[in-house]
Amino acid sequence: MNPVDWLMIVHPTLSVALIFPLLGIVVRYAWQTRQRRLRQGGGGPGSIPATAGPDHVRLGRWLAYGVVGVTLVAYGFILFVWKFNVLDGQLWGDRGGIFALQLALMGVTVGSMALLTRSRSRLWRIVFAALASLGVLVLGGQEGVYHRSEEWYISHYYYGVAVAILMIGSIAITPEIYRDRTHRWRIAHSLINALALLLFIGQGLTGSRDLLEISLSWQTPVINAQCDWANKTCTVPEAPPNP
Ligand code: HEM
Ligand code: HEM
Repeated sequence: MNPVDWLMIVHPTLSVALIFPLLGIVVRYAWQTRQRRLRQGGGGPGSIPATAGPDHVRLGRWLAYGVVGVTLVAYGFILFVWKFNVLDGQLWGDRGGIFALQLALMGVTVGSMALLTRSRSRLWRIVFAALASLGVLVLGGQEGVYHRSEEWYISHYYYGVAVAILMIGSIAITPEIYRDRTHRWRIAHSLINALALLLFIGQGLTGSRDLLEISLSWQTPVINAQCDWANKTCTVPEAPPNP
C-alpha cells in the first residue's frame, strides 16, 4: 500500500472503530429510555436507571459529531488528496481559491455543530442545524465526490448525507423532545431514527462494497486501461509466444 492508500482507509477505520460501537451504545440507551418511560405508566421503572435518557443524549451528541466528522474526513480525502493531490501542488495555482473555500466551509460546518449544541433558542438551533447540513451537502456536491446517482438507492453518498442530517436534526430537536407533554416529538424522533439505524447498516454495506471496488493506487492505471466496468470484463494481455 502507498501512503495514499493508507489515507484512503482512515475514514473506514474511524467509522468501524468509533462510530459503529458508539451507535450500539446509543441505541441500547435509547431502548432503555423508552422501556423506562413505558414502565413508569405501570409497574415502575424496574431495574433501568434514571440516567439512561441523559446518557442517550450525551453519547447521541458525540455520535452526531462523529458522523459529521467522518463525513468531513471522507470529503477531505477525496477533495484534497485523491482527486486533487495537495502533495503534488495541484491544489495551489488555479485551484487555490476553491481549495480555500472548501476548507472554510469545513470550518463553518464544524463551528455550526459546536454552536448548535450550545444554542437554546429555537431560531439559533434552526440556523446552526441548517448551516451544518448545508456544509455537508455543499461539500458533497463538489467536483470529485462520487454520488452513484444512477443507483441512488444503494449509494454510500446519499445514505451518508441522510444519516448525518438526521443526527444533526436530533440534536436540534432535543429541547422539543423534553418539553413536549404529548410525546409527539419523542415518537417522531424514535421512528425517524429507526430509519437512521437502517441507513447506518446500509453505510456498513455500501462502504465495504466501495472499498472492494476501489483498487489500490498503483493498480488503478492498469485497471482503467484494461477493464470495462459496464460489462464487467478486463482484457488479459496476450501471453508471450513460446520460444
Ligand atoms: C440512531 C440513533 C438514535 C436512535 C435509534 C434514537 C432513538 C431514541 C429512542 C427510541 C428514544 C426513547 C423515546 C421514548 O421515550 O419513547 C430516544 C430518546 C431521546 N433521544 Fe434519541 N435516538 C438516536 C440518536 C439521538 C441523537 C443523536 C440525539 C441528539 C442528541 C438524540 C436525542 C434524544 C433525546 C433528547 C431523547 C429523550 C431522552 C430522555 O427522555 O431523557 N437521540 N431516542
Ligand atoms: C457512519 C458511517 C459512515 C458515514 C456517515 C460515511 C459517509 C461517507 C461519505 C459521505 C463519503 C463521501 C461520498 C462517497 O465517496 O461515497 C464516504 C466515502 C467513503 N466511505 Fe464512508 N461512511 C461511513 C462508513 C463507512 C464504512 C464502514 C466504510 C468501509 C468499511 C466506508 C468506506 C468509504 C469509502 C471507501 C469511501 C470513498 C473514499 C474515502 O475513503 O474517503 N464508509 N463515506
